[in-house]
Amino acid sequence: MSDEASGQAGGACWAVVLAAGSGERLGIGRPKAFVPLGGQPLLYWSLRAFARHEAVTDLVVVTPPGWDEMLLKEILAAFSEQMGPDAEKIRGAVTGGAKRQASSRLGVEAVRDLRAEGSCAAENQTGVEPVVLVHDAARPLVPLRMIDDLLERLWAPRAVDAKPVGVIPVVPVADTLKEVAWPDEQLAQRAGVGDRRAWEQVGHGSVARTVSRDRLWQAQTPQGFPFGPLLTVHQEAAAQNYLATDEAGLFEWNGWAIETVPGSTANLKVTYPEDLALLAHAMAERV
Ligand code: C5P
Repeated sequence: MSDEASGQAGGACWAVVLAAGSGERLGIGRPKAFVPLGGQPLLYWSLRAFARHEAVTDLVVVTPPGWDEMLLKEILAAFSEQMGPDAEKIRGAVTGGAKRQASSRLGVEAVRDLRAEGSCAAENQTGVEPVVLVHDAARPLVPLRMIDDLLERLWAPRAVDAKPVGVIPVVPVADTLKEVAWPDEQLAQRAGVGDRRAWEQVGHGSVARTVSRDRLWQAQTPQGFPFGPLLTVHQEAAAQNYLATDEAGLFEWNGWAIETVPGSTANLKVTYPEDLALLAHAMAERV
C-alpha cells in the first residue's frame, strides 16, 4: 500500500485579504487599501483576482478600524455590479490589529468562526482540510497563474505523517546588497523597516560589506497554508509574543516546511507614493 495521501484538490480554499494597514508611508491620509487605483479602491483588485479564480471558494477581508462598514459596502456594491455571483464568495469582514501579524491572525480566526457557523456554501462535504491564501491588499495585481501554482503545491500528494507545508511565491533579489553602518542606529532601524522620513534623515553611512545574494529571494503574497496548522501557529505566536514578518516565518519558527513557487515581478506592492504611478501604468498595460 502506498504511504502517500491522495491529493486534496477539491477542498475549500479561503483567501484572507489583509487591508488593515494605516498606509502611513504612502502619506495620503487614508488607509492604503482604500487609495484609488484604476477607478477603484486598491483593495478591490485583490478581491476581484481571488473571487474570479474558480478554485477560491470563500473570502474574508481584514479592514482598518472604523473603515470596515461604509467603505467595504461601497467596494462590495461596485464588486457585485461588475462581478455578479463571484461577489458572493466574500463571506465577511473583520477589523484588523495594530500589526500585520495580528490582522492575519484575526482573519484566520474569522475563517474558523465562519466555518463553525456552517454558513459557507463552498465549504464542501469532502472532509478535506481547507487551505488558506493570505494576501496583502497592497499587491493588487496578483497573477491568477500564481494562485494555480500555490494550490498545486498545497494540494500535492504528501506522506500521511508529513509535517504541515506552506507555500510562498519568491523572486530573486535583483540589486546588490550592502550591509551599512549608520551614525544613528535607531534612525537607521526605523529606515530599515521602510520609514521614509527616517531614511531621509539617516545621514551618511559607510559600507561594512557586500552581502551575497546568491541564495536570497524576496517573498511575496499570496502565501498558502493548510487551515488548521496556520490557525495553531498564529495562536501560539500570539501567546508567546513572537513576531515574524510573514506567515511563512511563523511556520519556520514552528519547524514546519515552506516550499516556494515562482513569484512575479508584476506582483508589485504599494508602499511609497511613486509605487501608485507604477501600478497604474502596469494596470493600463494589462487591460
Ligand atoms: O505595511 P505593509 O505594506 O507591510 O502592509 C502589508 C499588508 O498588510 C497591507 O495590505 C496592509 O493593509 C496589511 N496590514 C494589515 N494590518 C496591519 C498592517 C498591515 O492588514 N496592522
